[in-house]
Amino acid sequence: MLKPRESIASLTPYRSPILNRAGLALDLNESMAGCSPRVLARLRSLSPQDVSRYPKRETGERLVADFLGLVPEQVLLTNGMDEALALVFSTYLGSGDELLFADPTFVMYSILGNALGAKVVRLHSGADLSLPVADFLTRISPRMRVIAIANPNNPTGLAARHDDLLKIAEAAPDAAVVIDEAYFDFYGETLLPDLARHPNLFVGRTFSKAYGLAGLRLGVLTGAAEQIGYLRRCSLPFNVNSAALACLEAALADQAFVSEHVAQVKQGRTQLAQLFRELGLHCWPSQTNFVLVRVGETVKAFVESMQRRGILIRNFSSAHGCAGCARITVATPIQMVGVLQAIRESIAEIQDA
Ligand SMILES: Cc1ncc(COP(=O)(O)O)c(C=O)c1O
Repeated sequence: MLKPRESIASLTPYRSPILNRAGLALDLNESMAGCSPRVLARLRSLSPQDVSRYPKRETGERLVADFLGLVPEQVLLTNGMDEALALVFSTYLGSGDELLFADPTFVMYSILGNALGAKVVRLHSGADLSLPVADFLTRISPRMRVIAIANPNNPTGLAARHDDLLKIAEAAPDAAVVIDEAYFDFYGETLLPDLARHPNLFVGRTFSKAYGLAGLRLGVLTGAAEQIGYLRRCSLPFNVNSAALACLEAALADQAFVSEHVAQVKQGRTQLAQLFRELGLHCWPSQTNFVLVRVGETVKAFVESMQRRGILIRNFSSAHGCAGCARITVATPIQMVGVLQAIRESIAEIQDA
């Protein structure tokens, strides 16, 4: 009888919340502002040949390298940041090798590590949910092949200190240290300039968030040219589709769209933080396009109450350190009026119940 590898058979399936998403979906950290009109215009202008030919990733890699101030050999375009993570993990992690990260963090790290049969070593962030830097430094060993850190982190929205991240990279010269900068645009600090001096460092980016291209699936992995060369060997040659590649230039060119969206998100996350403070609820200072708030034991009722008002948010209670917490994506300024009102009403409703 055909059986999958043991590491796959024992994997808990990822349950996508996408199937049932009627309402304002503030549960996946997508951009509520859509994408640049220039990107849409480019999509509409695709010719039959653009679609019938195999995509040329290399042209896109030159564009992104120029934009980031790197050489094309340091850049690999991927089918979303998820694929970039899958490539790093499968390049360096063999069965039984160690993968290190700190919970709570992006769920794909554990899924990918477990699928590869790696030994998944999970550190625990402290009560404030900040990166447990000292624990990383004590736990690092030559068996550790990949260390994954989302900066800023999902679901907390917190950013770690630049020099702490470098300390971790320097303490683990034999491990691929991936700094997942999916939310970079909402934060503004990066480890990209440090790639030159740290051959084991990788920095990942995505067009899914600030650029609003989650549906096109476009991610970027950067690192030392030699290491990116190894990743290219295990990447599928046509992993990024023609539509995404065709839109890349327009997306990068419309920085005014990105800056305006980022400014609105920053305003929206401040509004959320102010409201939560007013309601006496703790939330974490976010450097991303979402906010994590601790509602307490009634969090399930809160999420349901928001859903009855047509707004989907994510209950994070099962993540380490996040008991009673919900994560909410920042919406557009117009939508935020209704979102803030719905939060007030829902909190009042669960308090009265
Ligand atoms: C920290 C982090 N990394 C990576 C991703 C995946 O991004 P992409 O849509 O590019 O696969 C996400 C998506 O939410 C994320 O939160």
